[in-house]
Amino acid sequence: MFKFTFKQKLQAVILVSIVTIVAYASVTGPEPRYTNAPGDLGNCVSCHDTFHEANVGSGSVTIDNVPAVYEPGEQYTLVVTVQQAGRQRFGFQLTAIDLDGNRIGTLEPINNSTQVNPLTGFGNRQYIQHSESGTFPTGQSSRTWQFRWKAPVDDEGVVRFYISGNAANGDGTNQNDHIYTTSTLAESPTTVVTVELLTDPEGQVLEPDTHFLIDWSATNISNVDSYELRYSTDDGATFPITNLIFSTTDPDVTEFDWTVPDKFSTNARIRVLAATQAGSAVEVLSGKFTINGSGATIPIITGGQVKGNKLFVFGDNFVNGSKVYMDDVPQKTKNGSGSATKLKVKKAGNNISPGQTVILVVHNPDGTVSEPFEFTRPL
Ligand code: HEC
Repeated sequence: MFKFTFKQKLQAVILVSIVTIVAYASVTGPEPRYTNAPGDLGNCVSCHDTFHEANVGSGSVTIDNVPAVYEPGEQYTLVVTVQQAGRQRFGFQLTAIDLDGNRIGTLEPINNSTQVNPLTGFGNRQYIQHSESGTFPTGQSSRTWQFRWKAPVDDEGVVRFYISGNAANGDGTNQNDHIYTTSTLAESPTTVVTVELLTDPEGQVLEPDTHFLIDWSATNISNVDSYELRYSTDDGATFPITNLIFSTTDPDVTEFDWTVPDKFSTNARIRVLAATQAGSAVEVLSGKFTINGSGATIPIITGGQVKGNKLFVFGDNFVNGSKVYMDDVPQKTKNGSGSATKLKVKKAGNNISPGQTVILVVHNPDGTVSEPFEFTRPL
């Protein structure tokens, strides 16, 4: 009777598993052109349509390690993560295209968790995506994939990455899966825009209604889409739209004669923001200066109270970003709801024993400072 040797059996097993893996790889992983890039057929929602649209749900798809500016000929290991609490299986697809929608650079797996789809799309686009074995979680309710993007040897301009990700329930069907999309870009040395402030009011005291000439310059000016100038009164923490100084879509305009507003701040800054044609933005901030306007609302302290380990400070003219100083030491201050009359200082209560007196001062972000307040914790 014919008998298989152990070696033959082993070969048979190996052959079967290779066939299975090959067959699996050809049917698994999405078809090309579902990254949500312009010119693609859409995103994974086209088939995973339980929720009708992408980006509904508590999860996300993110891409990391994309340089702000790529070096031609350089290789980058990109990291894509899909996450959503309670999800079992994950997938993604990504393509790298230039501003005309054509393939740029080369996508390559660095391990067996991803594969390049043998089919290409419009503009010779490549699609890199999960493999069958690359669908299992690598973290708590998340999956991370690493793969390579080789930048073109010659500077071919901006690269845009489009990614569609699936946070799936693992039931082996296209039902009840949450789809997320995102995109990002890297500029090239010939497209990157940098801005520089040529006039900086740093350290100056500007009077309201006087003029200050804001003068700036930019590199690769033909890639500038627009400039927008704003000022901050809280040391650059915020640049609200109400603080708009000037905006233009003429990249040749690089100065503006600013009429200083009647605002008060010893923590003022100017921001020049340039938006590029590819859709990225670069900004430069001035140094800190003072606007000597009226209407300074100086914070006032009227009382304090220790509750547990917290210290509450009562008074008026507090704002988001007000900071309590206790005996000259800045404290972790909370004013989440933007209360004008109450500040919460976590843990400071621990450092004031019953009967002890401390000096409290409140600093507002515009640089105004309250009178010192003597607070004695009751016995
Ligand atoms: C052309 C239709 C189609 C498109 C487009 C599609 N899928 Fe699927 N997908 C399916 C089907 C059908 C299944 C069920 C399993 C099978 O038949 O392979 C599935 C299953 C999956 C699963 C396993 C789901 C689970 O709960 O077990 C993942 C992960 C997945 N797809 C990822 C993606 C990603 C990521 C995209 C977009 C880049 C995508 N799919 C786009 C048809 C599609």
